[in-house]
Amino acid sequence: MKTIIDQISDIVSQGFAMAGYDASYGKAGISNRPDLCEFQCNGAMAAAKEYHKAPIEIASDVCAQLADNPAFSDISAAAPGFLNISLADEYLADYLNKMEDADRFGLDTPPSKRIIVDYGGPNVAKPLHVGHLRAAIIGESVKRICRYFGNEVIGDVHLGDWGLQMGLIITELRERKPYLEYYNDDYTGPYYSQPPFTLAELEEIYPCASARAKADEQYKEAALEATRQLQEGKRGYRALWRHIMEISVPDLKRNYRDLDVEFDWWKGESDVDDLIADMVNDMKKDGFAYESDGALVVDVAEDTDTREVPPCMILKSDGASLYTTTDLATLLYRRNMFDPDQVIYVVDKRQEMHFIQVFRCAKKCGIVSEDTELDFLGFGTMNGKDGKPFKTREGGVMRLETLISDIRETMFHKITDNHETDPDEARETSGIVALSAIKYGDLSNQATKDYVFDTDKFTSFEGNTGPYILYTIVRIKSILNKYTESAGIAAGADEKLPHRIGVPSGGSEKALMLDLAGFSNVLWSAYEEIAPHRICAYIYEICNDFNRFYHETRILTEEDAARKDGWIALLLLTRRILETCIDLLGFSAPERM
Ligand code: ARG
Repeated sequence: MKTIIDQISDIVSQGFAMAGYDASYGKAGISNRPDLCEFQCNGAMAAAKEYHKAPIEIASDVCAQLADNPAFSDISAAAPGFLNISLADEYLADYLNKMEDADRFGLDTPPSKRIIVDYGGPNVAKPLHVGHLRAAIIGESVKRICRYFGNEVIGDVHLGDWGLQMGLIITELRERKPYLEYYNDDYTGPYYSQPPFTLAELEEIYPCASARAKADEQYKEAALEATRQLQEGKRGYRALWRHIMEISVPDLKRNYRDLDVEFDWWKGESDVDDLIADMVNDMKKDGFAYESDGALVVDVAEDTDTREVPPCMILKSDGASLYTTTDLATLLYRRNMFDPDQVIYVVDKRQEMHFIQVFRCAKKCGIVSEDTELDFLGFGTMNGKDGKPFKTREGGVMRLETLISDIRETMFHKITDNHETDPDEARETSGIVALSAIKYGDLSNQATKDYVFDTDKFTSFEGNTGPYILYTIVRIKSILNKYTESAGIAAGADEKLPHRIGVPSGGSEKALMLDLAGFSNVLWSAYEEIAPHRICAYIYEICNDFNRFYHETRILTEEDAARKDGWIALLLLTRRILETCIDLLGFSAPERM
């Protein structure tokens, strides 16, 4: 089904053609002046140059052709040459009824692609902190949007499990427990099946080691050496590494589950280690990689660069691989395993240069084909109210778990203060609403921008917030439930509800209908621009228009049965579209709140 904008554009294009102008000028869009009209076309301004005519004359010619078109209730030419358009009520109702009947509300999906979304990117052995929140939230939504368009999508967590933090832990543990067999080079027997530390110890060991390495050069050298030996395959260190993974990964999984974030692949940097040697050899053999000051590099600068893009470093002078190396090998791995058409990286925007280098190097060296789309969605920082990166009240790094439980607690109090509820239900509901507060608070901002995490604002039931969206959905559910009760229909039996939407009887109803009609247009822009915030802006608008309609309309007591049925159908479509949208954002609505 064509989008509403495309359908209007088709009609306006016909108008241009009938008036003797090129049809390509007929592209329409949403009105910039909603006080004057619903849609507009600015094509006459562009056509004026080709036809050497005043734009208003051209616009008037087109108007004359379309004056009686049944799709429009109004079309007029406005100075200097705009075409202002409003849709006919019947046409709009008919469009919505077709959406209601169609799959995915009539969204036409393009040929399916294979896409990998690389997001999360936690580092094993370090607790998840708020810095990981954005990658998880935005990535999850991007993955769901890509899937909604019929693509085959894999979400890969891409663990940081092969770097210096492992060497740091190994070094610190050695000082604390030097007698462990992992450190005895002469030992050839089996190692313990149980890890020699707990999660709590691990979480204490890492920051301690990291702080020591910063203050003590020798300690840092030892950690680097341990990292190198681990990567080279030292038996005891590999065994320790497995223990670290065993303890840390289930904890990460639990944290992501709490966020309703789900990965298809739990791959990490370590999984591609054995691809590196051959990959590097090929890069040398093909003449792309060369030695520079002892290191191995690939030039990736281009003539059109407006800022310096340094060569991509593949191996350090001591032969150790780097962050770029594992990302390149990961692309190779992904090609072998899945052959993606597109890879989308959802990572902190401060890593942009790294990805420019990796993408160029991968294409130059043939690690991916020339037509593989590599996209970097760099996100900004989540700040506190002071405008600085979000911290605990004491100024420390805030753990993700703490943030989530704080917001849950806040929501619990709000919900129980509002009205009497069963405490168990209130607990469950506050979990759902808390997630909407956190996720919507993040996603409603354009990903690339920094934003302020404002607990009071995000948890409010009013304004542009997750709880407001859920509140509106719950309100619709409650009206529909009352209707089913009075009509003797089983609760939740949507198929038994009236499905024909009627013509709007007032301004707020029409505004809501126009919003709903824009579904496919909004989804396309969210998908093509990789921009979940488009969906947030869209549902906020729907909720505002719905609530306006709700306050102006006595739906359940309406005596005209046909009109009432039309409203129920409209509510049903509104609820379904809102629920679809929040699912794409990664949260859901409770039954009551
Ligand atoms: N672990 C990395 C970090 O904490 C993020 C990984 C992002 N993904 C990637 N393919 N490099 O900075």
